[in-house]
This record gives sequence, C-alpha cells and structure tokens, in this order.
Amino acid sequence: MTIASVDRTIRLISTGETTGSTCTPDLAVDPWYFDAKAPGYGPGSSMGDVIPTGSPRQGELPAKYRTASNGELGDWIRAAKATLGERVVVLGHFYQREEVLQHADFVGDSFQLAVATQSRPDAEAIVFCGVHFMAETADLLSRPEQAVILPNLAAGCSMADMADIDSVTECWEQLEELYGTEPDADGRVPVIPVTYMNSSAALKGFCGEHGGIVCTSSNAETVLEWAFERGQRVLFFPDQHLGRNTAKAMGVPLERMPMWNPRKPLGGNTESELENSQVILWHGFCSVHRRFTVDQIAAARSEHPGVRVIVHPECPMAVVDAADEYGSTDYIAKAIAAAPAGSTFAIGTEINLVQRLAAEYPQHTIFCLDPVVCPCSTMYRIHSGYLAWVLEALVGGDGVPAEVLNRITVADDVAGHARVALERMLAAKPPAAGPVAPVVVGA
Ligand code: 13P
Ligand code: SF4
Repeated sequence: MTIASVDRTIRLISTGETTGSTCTPDLAVDPWYFDAKAPGYGPGSSMGDVIPTGSPRQGELPAKYRTASNGELGDWIRAAKATLGERVVVLGHFYQREEVLQHADFVGDSFQLAVATQSRPDAEAIVFCGVHFMAETADLLSRPEQAVILPNLAAGCSMADMADIDSVTECWEQLEELYGTEPDADGRVPVIPVTYMNSSAALKGFCGEHGGIVCTSSNAETVLEWAFERGQRVLFFPDQHLGRNTAKAMGVPLERMPMWNPRKPLGGNTESELENSQVILWHGFCSVHRRFTVDQIAAARSEHPGVRVIVHPECPMAVVDAADEYGSTDYIAKAIAAAPAGSTFAIGTEINLVQRLAAEYPQHTIFCLDPVVCPCSTMYRIHSGYLAWVLEALVGGDGVPAEVLNRITVADDVAGHARVALERMLAAKPPAAGPVAPVVVGA
C-alpha cells in the first residue's frame, strides 16, 4: 500500500518536485524549530489564531532525535515498543501524521480513543499521539497509576483554547441572573452546559458540576437530546459550528440559537433573545474546518459529476448544507469503506486523514475539498522524533516513574466533576461496536 505521507507531499511541493500549494512554506520546517520560537500554534490552519498566554511549551528535543532520519526514528520506536511490550499503549488520532500513526496500537476519532483509553488497564503508560485535551481525557478515564504522555506539549487545539473557564463562568453567572435557577413545571432547569470534547478538563469539570455533559462530533445529537430532557435550553461551547449544525438538524430554528461573544455584555445579545433561545452558541471555531467553502463544493461537483461530498460538522453551516452528508471522522472513514468500488469522494476534513483514506482505498477517487495543503497546526507538532524520545525515555526508566516526561495530569479539584460529565456522555452513547480495532504496528 502507498504510504499516505502528508509530510512527503509538503516536501515535494516545497522543492517543486510536485505541483500543488501549501498554506505556508513553514510546513516544510521540522516542528522542533517552533518549540524554540515564541509561543504560537506553528504552521498550518491555526497560524492566525491567538494562542493564550501560559499555553504549555515544549522544551528542546534532544539533538539525537532532531537529526535522525525517518527510517532511524521508525526503527527506534519499534525497538522501544518491543522492549516495553504490554507496559505501554500508543493511541493515535486520525489527523496524526502517517509517520507517527503507523506505530499506534489504536487509531480512531476522539470518542473511540476515549474508549480505547480504558481498554488496556494494565499498561503503565498511555502515549497519546493527538492533542492536549485528548490526553487530559485519557488521564481522566484511565487508572490513577497509569501515566498519560503527550509527546509534544505544544500540541494543543486552537478551538479548545477559545473557551476558558473564567469566561465561561462569567457567562454562566450572567445567565443565572437572567433565568434564575428554578426548574419549570416539567422539572427542566433553565440551562444545561454542554462542552465539546475539544475543551480543557476545567470546562468538562464545569459541566459535571453544573448538571451538564460532554459531547463529541459522533454523538452530539444524542447528547443534545439528553440535555433537552433536563433543561429548557443549552449553553454549547466552544464550537459554534458543531452546535449549530447539530441543533439545526434536530429542528431548532436559527433565530433561537444566539451566539455568545465573551467580550460583550450578555454575550452581545438582548435579554429577550436569550430568553427565547434554545441553544446559546459560544463564539469558537476550528481553523482547519473553517477553510472549507461552498465554492469548493461547487468546483468539486462541476469537475467530478456524481461526486459524494462529505464534511465534518465543525465546518460552517453553509458548507454542511451544501454537502451530501456530514459526520465525524469515524463516520467519514466508515462511509468510504462501505461505498461501491469506483466511487468519488470530496472530503471536508483534515488532510492527513483524507490522504490516508485515498491511499487505503485505491478503488475510489478521494480528494480533499481544499486544494491547498494546510494541516492542523497542533497535530503537526507531534513528529516521530518526539514519539521516539518519550518511548526511549520510558525504556530507560526503571519501570515508568510517577513523574515521567511530558506527563499530562488533571488536577484533583476538577477531575472528579470532569469524570462525571464524561461518564454521562459514555452512558448517553455507549460505543456502538466496542473498542476500535488495533492497527498492525509498523505496517
Ligand atoms: P473527531 O471527534 O471527529 O475525532 O474530531 C476531533 C477533532 O479535533 C476534529 O477537529
Ligand atoms: Fe483542534 Fe481543529 Fe485541530 Fe481538531 S482540527 S485538533 S478542532 S484545531
């Protein structure tokens, strides 16, 4: 099978060996260069987003890992994993670069990886090749003795950073003042907070503490149903698009979905708009999915008659409306797997997943709606150099020490409430097909 390396595509574009364009020439630069620079998300889709002060910084990667070839790094990773055996489990999100993902024991979307976290309770270390909020979730769902390790601490999520605990608490106080706290005649409280999985543990804790719940892109509708049974309305953060697309599909009219801008009093709304609301949408978005446009869909349809357009629900509403289908990363992967040979797909999600699906299913034509190669900046920060570094450090350790390299831990004062919100989510939608299938290491 062809290796679907976006890194290689980027290098070939940068040297002119292949046609195409990238959103920045910096993509051809190794990620450790950005660890040393001023804080920023690094090259890729969230380059223009404002990074919060105090975001985790990654220290310098030892020179051995910066100068090794991909082949050497792959050999070191395989050797370290073989030595560690059952002591370590490597999880990888669909958006991770191919050179990293080929070493994952479990590959999946954020919901599947949350479930996979619990599938190897005997592993001493869980190495999470994804982004910070996913590693926090893994820490919340795993046993306290298990160490969750994020190979590069700078792998955050710009969308998750768009809602912080202080602004959400301030919003909540304003809503409580407006609505009070008394339930209606049906026992439904004035507002239920719902946070997308792409949020800090502090916000998951906020939801757990205030009768709310977490959702992912694969269970957002089930979670909103859960919330409407218990509340007159929902405060949904941080992704306005997932909230709007899901609620709209459930029949909530757009005029009952005001947006909350945390920089304005009452979020920039009037009291009557908020009183009439069913879903209050936080002013957050994903810079990867915001790149997709209705014009791209029109171009795909005119160049490929009969094309099936599938987009992720983090895309703007107009894009979701113009597509044939929308769904989580797992939905997209399953739709392609089930299609008759010779199908053509235009996909609106992160390029690493799209390029991998195109290589995995040569019987179809699969391409990304966005012709410009522009990966998720934060997923990009994890390179096989960091994976080799943390795994070799674990091998060097006598057992996995309590305070291992790049360990992600959620403070006790939020962990209890955050687990409540996650457990409500897992109970609202149990995994449909059990844990995700392991991938063949080194394939
Ligand atoms: P999934 O829940 O579909 O894995 O999406 C996670 C994510 O970060 C999408 O941008
Ligand atoms: Fe965050 Fe968007 Fe990257 Fe997903 S694709 S991790 S939402 S920045």
